Amino acid sequence: MVKTILVTNWKGGTGKTTVATNLLAAIANSGLTVAGLDTDAQPQLAEWWEARPEQAPALSVYIQPLADLEEAPTPPEPVDVLVIDTPPGVEAYPESYRRLIEAADLIVVPSSGTSNDRRSTSKVLEFLHTTGKPVVVVLNRLKPRALDNAETKRDLARIGADLCPVELPDLNEFHRAFDIGVGVVEVDGAKASDDVDALWAYLRKRLGIAS
Ligand SMILES: Nc1ncnc2c1ncn2[C@@H]1O[C@H](COP(=O)(O)OP(=O)(O)O)[C@@H](O)[C@H]1O
Ligand SMILES: [Mg+2]
Repeated sequence: MVKTILVTNWKGGTGKTTVATNLLAAIANSGLTVAGLDTDAQPQLAEWWEARPEQAPALSVYIQPLADLEEAPTPPEPVDVLVIDTPPGVEAYPESYRRLIEAADLIVVPSSGTSNDRRSTSKVLEFLHTTGKPVVVVLNRLKPRALDNAETKRDLARIGADLCPVELPDLNEFHRAFDIGVGVVEVDGAKASDDVDALWAYLRKRLGIAS
C-alpha cells in the first residue's frame, strides 16, 4: 500500500516545493520507489523532475492541477511513497483539497520563522486539526539566530503544533540542487544533506515504514 505525504501551507514561499523535491530524492536514494504529484498550475516540481540527471536514482513526477482533480490522487505506477506538492491558495479548491487530505497518511507543513509564515501556518494548522490527520510542521530556512528560532518554536508550540525535531537551514545549496533536478542528498559536500536524510528518517518512522 502506498504511503502518501501531503506537503501544504496556504502561503507561497514557505518551502513546500523545496521540501517535496528533497524528500523525493532522499526517498529514491533510500531504495524505496517514489513518485511526486504536482498539483500546482505552475508546476515547479515537474520542472525540477525534467531537469533530473539520467544517472540519478529513478523517480517520477506527474501533474494534476487542483482545478482538475476529480478523484483521489493515485500514482500511475505502484510506488512505496507518494509525495504531493500543493500550490499556495490551495484552500480556494475545497473539494480537491479535501481529496488530497483524505489520501494523506501524513501532512507536512513547511514554515519559515518569519512572522508572516507563522500567521499563515497557524491558520493552516487550525484547519488541518479539524481533519483528524497527523500533521507535522517542518521549520525551513532557519537562520542561525537562536533567539528568533526559539520564539518561533514557542509560538508554534502554543498553538498545538507538532514540531518536527529536524529543521532545515537557510542555504543556497537548496536553490542550486533544485536547478539541476537533484536533492541536496545527491550533492557532494552539501551541508544540509544529513538534515534531509534525518527528516526522511523521522517521517518514515511516523509513516510506519520499516527501515
Ligand atoms: N532551506 C532553504 N534555504 C534556502 N532557500 C530556500 C530554502 N527553502 C526554500 N528556499 C527558496 O525559497 C524560495 C521558495 O521556496 P519554495 O520551496 O519554492 O516554496 P513554496 O513551494 O512553498 O512556494 C525558492 O527560491 C527556494 O529555493
Ligand atoms: Mg511551490
